[in-house]
Amino acid sequence: MTNTPMTLALASDHGGLELKNYIKSYLATHYPQYNMLDFGTQDTASVDYPDYAKKVAQSILKNECECGILVCGTGIGISIAANRFKGIRAALVHNDFTAEMSKAHNNANILCLGGRTTSKEDACRYIDIWLKTPFEGGRHQIRLDKLE
Ligand code: RB5
Repeated sequence: MTNTPMTLALASDHGGLELKNYIKSYLATHYPQYNMLDFGTQDTASVDYPDYAKKVAQSILKNECECGILVCGTGIGISIAANRFKGIRAALVHNDFTAEMSKAHNNANILCLGGRTTSKEDACRYIDIWLKTPFEGGRHQIRLDKLE
């Protein structure tokens, strides 16, 4: 067992900026034990979501953090981009069940959300579920191994 606190990376494009910043405040209030790395974006200027997916994916792959949250307008582009990286399992979730399954069955190391499609309240509830649900392992680990 280690006492190292968990580190979580966050990033968004302009379409996910408002929700990303809201999530950052929510995590700081409700999960003060977590370290956070905010990879931007930091303003409303138009940017390209693959650049932000790459920052979080690489941070996980370098073991700077254990997991991440990515937000773009729909969550679609940024999840596609993150899943280009071997070892990344980015899940775009849209209800409580997919949030739960993303961890229980897929052991998603990145949660993706849509800033223009998901309310702040729903997003934070999905995050709670994803963070608190344990990975079930077993047959699901065999399937994850096949991805690699
Ligand atoms: C940016 O306008 C938008 O295309 C992007 O945030 C995302 O929704 C792409 O999937």
